[in-house]
Amino acid sequence: MSLTSHVYTEKDVGDFFDQTTQTYLTFWDSEGVLHTGYFSGDDDEDYRAAAERTSDIMAAEAGIGETSHVLDVGCGCGNFLIHLADRYGCRGEGLDLSAERVAFARKLAGDRPGIAFRHGSATRMPYEDGSFTHVVSQDALFLVPDKPRSHAEVNRVLRPGGIFAFSDFLQPREDIGERARKHVYDRVRWGGGYSLVGYQRALEDAGFEILLARNLEDHIRQTYRVLGKTARERAETTPDAAARDWMLAFSESCGEIQAAIDRGEFGWGVFVARRR
Ligand SMILES: C[S@@+](CC[C@H](N)C(=O)[O-])C[C@H]1O[C@@H](n2cnc3c(N)ncnc32)[C@H](O)[C@@H]1O
Repeated sequence: MSLTSHVYTEKDVGDFFDQTTQTYLTFWDSEGVLHTGYFSGDDDEDYRAAAERTSDIMAAEAGIGETSHVLDVGCGCGNFLIHLADRYGCRGEGLDLSAERVAFARKLAGDRPGIAFRHGSATRMPYEDGSFTHVVSQDALFLVPDKPRSHAEVNRVLRPGGIFAFSDFLQPREDIGERARKHVYDRVRWGGGYSLVGYQRALEDAGFEILLARNLEDHIRQTYRVLGKTARERAETTPDAAARDWMLAFSESCGEIQAAIDRGEFGWGVFVARRR
């Protein structure tokens, strides 16, 4: 793993996701979904359906059902856990570093039984050893500065034989150019991450057996193509100048993100691992 220009702290990351909650809601997804979609092809532009498909694929790969007790790490606005509870009948907890997003998740969940959201970090989880049958996460763990520590925490809170199923951003190569550093990494306070192979090694070192590791960069390229277009369109009708500028800057970054994927400086993968 190599770091880009900055080493971000958990506070930097939490502040960023607190400060951008409302902006993201205005153009990305009004219910707070903030993860990569799984698209049916290049002409599929339905982000919301694609994002839900990612959740369903992960639920199926993880084998989540009525008897599962699931932790969603980096749950953001809570959509994934709520979807899992509604569709598969599981119980669960969501944990996120952003207090703003946890507050949104609690409101979104309403009085649904069996699910709860907490403000906290993947590196210091407020749960007893062996609490969960499954730990899931979508596009969040790349942001943790001390990744071995979060892996150890996931391992600790899973019961033996429990399943860790997640999607995450990848850093396929060591050397990252200035444009990718600015538009992909620094933009979201990301210091650096693993390649697909490096991730598997890190998980094995943390006591997991790898069941699945899949490179899905075409889907993250399509996600940013579709979202860049949406941001550009929304900017045209947004009266607030600061919000408009943010959307236009994001839209520009979306083009750069796709170019970074083509250069091998950015990627996305889905992993399923079992606690030994
Ligand atoms: C790209 S968003 C994804 C949110 C959510 N998983 C979804 O699918 O919509 C990344 C989330 O990870 C959270 N996060 C980053 N670092 C974290 C940490 N150390 N512990 C817990 N959550 C963290 C951020 O606050 C943010 O809500």
